[in-house]
Amino acid sequence: MVKICCIGAGYVGGPTMAVIALKCPDIEVAVVDISVSRITAWNSDQLPIYEPGLEDVVKSCRGKNLFFSTDVEKHVSEADIIFVSVNTPTKTRGLGAGKAADLTYWESAARMIADVSKSDKIVVEKSTVPVKTAEAIEKILTHNSKGVNYQILSNPEFLAEGTAIEDLFAPDRVLIGGRETPDGQRAIKALKDVYAHWVPEERILCTNLWSAELSKLAANAFLAQRISSVNAMSALCESTGADVAQVSHAVGKDTRIGHKFLNSSVGFGGSCFQKDILNLVYICECNGLLEVANYWKQVIKVNDYQKNRFVNRIVSSMFNTVSGKKIAILGFAFKKDTGDTRETPAIDVCKGLLGDKANLSIYDPQVTEEQIQRDLSMNKFDWDHPVHLQPMSPSSVKQVSVVWDVYEAAKGAHGLCILTEWDEFKNLDYKQIYDNMPKPAFVFDGRNVVDPHKLREIGFIVYSIGKPLDSWLKDMPAV
Ligand code: UDX
Ligand code: ADP
Repeated sequence: MVKICCIGAGYVGGPTMAVIALKCPDIEVAVVDISVSRITAWNSDQLPIYEPGLEDVVKSCRGKNLFFSTDVEKHVSEADIIFVSVNTPTKTRGLGAGKAADLTYWESAARMIADVSKSDKIVVEKSTVPVKTAEAIEKILTHNSKGVNYQILSNPEFLAEGTAIEDLFAPDRVLIGGRETPDGQRAIKALKDVYAHWVPEERILCTNLWSAELSKLAANAFLAQRISSVNAMSALCESTGADVAQVSHAVGKDTRIGHKFLNSSVGFGGSCFQKDILNLVYICECNGLLEVANYWKQVIKVNDYQKNRFVNRIVSSMFNTVSGKKIAILGFAFKKDTGDTRETPAIDVCKGLLGDKANLSIYDPQVTEEQIQRDLSMNKFDWDHPVHLQPMSPSSVKQVSVVWDVYEAAKGAHGLCILTEWDEFKNLDYKQIYDNMPKPAFVFDGRNVVDPHKLREIGFIVYSIGKPLDSWLKDMPAV
């Protein structure tokens, strides 16, 4: 029986391995992690991540051919194929700070693999890594090989959170990069055979190592660039009276462009987009390609601009001050159907409002108070370290309260800010909410989930990203 071990039981490792176990009953899959609390959660009824459909998949194979364990060395030594899906934070100090990936966790995983391995291994890069990481890992392993033969593959994961299980069941493509040697090709074939249990052959793309590594960064950069493009248009729509939803619709009808991923928003978030673009920028700079680096940097600049613009709209609408005013934050996750808050635009918007001394009442159906307090008191890029290395008891921000009821959050608030597109925000009783707010009552919709006309009929002053402006907002600067 082929044995797979995945190092790192996070958002990528957990769901991906669960689906491999489900689709390949003849393969034994062990997911290992140094975090005891994460592994305990994977073995309980309360999984550590919220992902639609995940629980059913885990429950149907856990204890049969899917195991979660902290015994990292045992499972690594027994495995034929080792996936590595550990943290790759952005460096905050030293060479490449603020851009380059910190490969500390990757390197320690590679050294551990070399220490405990007694049989040949295929080592698969699963977490997104900078181009040429495979080469570095290969060097660590071969210099410590003790006669063991290692083949390195790059198999980047393209799943999106909230739809991870669907994406894994029917991926647009599976990408496998490896060495162009007979051993390299054999390793590619072994991994291809795993995916071939359920993925049609024509969707499994095999490339060289560097193409696979770069394709992942490129795909995320292209996707993020689309959002910054439409968000840049949203600012122009507000100035000209155009409606960004109508513009996106018209643009997306061109089959060369396509309609997906053209929703204007308060900004993109998530663990990948910013980090991967920063990586790309760093690689370009290291290769002397400054124009190319600047091109991609602009995608992040526009994203930051969009978040700032949103905060400025709120403050300027409320007579240029939110000091001491209660503002309800509806949604904190970086998108709907996930409890993940990594790089969520809500962090920057909340910090901006707190900087202007607002009191925030935050509601999100999937994010805990502890997580929100941690996010609002953490430094940039610190989120991407294993839990046990993060601050144990983060200081809580006093101007912030976190509630489990949306109407409670809104009660007495001067304004509502919608920061995540949770479906439940579409059909709230906005009349009841309005009646319990001081006047003028504002709605700032950062995800275009509410109908501004209906809300204006109730009496709200409404700002919706990229939509024709309320007369109240017209002469107020927000750039
Ligand atoms: C992304 C990639 O889609 C995935 O292929 C890769 O493996 C990891 O990074 P993810 O970050 O989970 O996945 O979510 P995604 O759906 O891509 O959304 C990223 C951000 O963009 C979210 O904050 C989302 O709200 C925002 N977004 C997305 C928009 O603002 N507008 C859109 O039209 C689409
Ligand atoms: P992703 O979104 O890429 O899955 P996560 O941060 O959710 O990233 O998961 C990475 C996991 O890797 C964390 O649970 C962390 O504890 C684990 N990890 C980091 N270094 C090691 C290591 N050397 N051995 C085992 N697990 C590790």
